[in-house]
Amino acid sequence: MTTGRTRSQELYDRALKVMPGGASRNTILRRPHPLYVERGEGSRVFDVEGVERIDFANNMASLIHGHAHPAIVSAVTEQLKRGTAFTLGTEREIQYAEHMVQRAGSFSKIRFVNSGTEAVMACLKASRAFTGRPKIAKVEGAYHGLYDFAEISQTAKPSTWGDPDRPVSVPVAYGTPQGVLDDVIVIPFNDSRVAKAILDEHAEEIACVLVDPVPHRVGLIPAEKEFLQTLRNWTSSNGSLLVFDEVITFRVTCGGVQEKHGIHPDLTAMGKMIGGGFPVGAIAGRGEVMDVMDPLADNVLFPHSGTFSANPITMTAGYTAMKLFDRQAVQRINELARRARSQILDAIRVADVTACITGAGSMFRVHFKPEPPREYRSAFVGPEETAQLRAFLDHLLDNGIIMINTGTVMLSTVMTDYEIDRLSDAMLDGFRRVRELSI
Ligand SMILES: Cc1ncc(COP(=O)(O)O)c(C=O)c1O
Repeated sequence: MTTGRTRSQELYDRALKVMPGGASRNTILRRPHPLYVERGEGSRVFDVEGVERIDFANNMASLIHGHAHPAIVSAVTEQLKRGTAFTLGTEREIQYAEHMVQRAGSFSKIRFVNSGTEAVMACLKASRAFTGRPKIAKVEGAYHGLYDFAEISQTAKPSTWGDPDRPVSVPVAYGTPQGVLDDVIVIPFNDSRVAKAILDEHAEEIACVLVDPVPHRVGLIPAEKEFLQTLRNWTSSNGSLLVFDEVITFRVTCGGVQEKHGIHPDLTAMGKMIGGGFPVGAIAGRGEVMDVMDPLADNVLFPHSGTFSANPITMTAGYTAMKLFDRQAVQRINELARRARSQILDAIRVADVTACITGAGSMFRVHFKPEPPREYRSAFVGPEETAQLRAFLDHLLDNGIIMINTGTVMLSTVMTDYEIDRLSDAMLDGFRRVRELSI
């Protein structure tokens, strides 16, 4: 007997009975129900209904070579047969660490963990251990994962964010202790004058300044070099550390945004693409700071471990993926993104819709705003823009294009001009639809 319901609807009904909201991660949710995957291959994803789509989300920027890349599948399959996790070391971890430390000038030592959240958390704890100071400074609206101290102000909104010269420490989760709010200093993005004035007020107490150089939730706006340089100078002169979150942005050059600008943070958190499709995080940086995790020291300042950290499956997949993501691959994918951005800007003009694009390297984000925003408050998506974005993304999904729900595209190296043309053609129709909505 046929129920007339799709397979995805049926699966979601089952999921709702056993998981809050019907999922383990909110990212997969969409109205009226999530789509469920049958398989992915290269730049394509096939859902359980048999519909094929081009995947421009790439698991939130983590699949730099798309789905089931043959070199990664083959290397991981080989390792799977030899075991997946040991209470012993593997040469692959050392080999991958050697590869990673030569990718950026600020990396003298590295440790691997299992997620970006964990990497950011370890950077903040290492900073506190190194400096003996309690406070963390971070950019308003920036997403750095789930650690209490890293997530403050991530969901700040007009009713809670306060004065622009003095952003409020807004909790994300109910029950966040007041002590955490007091120990997180929030600075505005790309505003050196205000950021410095706020930091100066807490100069003796700040362990580190945490910054993502192209923060996705802040609007995927590149940090101005002068802003990053101000933070570098301020931290160096005030006995505090500079921490870059390059969990997403490491893809912008072979050695991340830090290499592009020649600004060396003390510590860098990485994740996503460096796992080659498997869960990962990494903390890399100055030897002296990294050594707070050294268990061989007389006085271990930051004991640090994790059951699945540096497991050989992640190390094998990550090493294979990052070797493939060499200078030539970075250049090619960034060039593809430049072409996409230019075609999409043409589509915006042709459709005569109010929209603009931000981004860097192989990633970009569409905003239904007249001008590219400069920081979190001007990037904030209000109710009208939310409705426009939803209509736009629904149109794209119905036309075979998957994007991140903020209107963001993350390219993969297996894409070609063909996928870019499909994207900009579908976007042109999507922009026309949004234009009709606003008339
Ligand atoms: C910039 C940034 N930092 C940290 C994280 C957290 O990484 P994970 O989801 O692997 O914990 C994310 C995840 O989206 C991120 O975008």
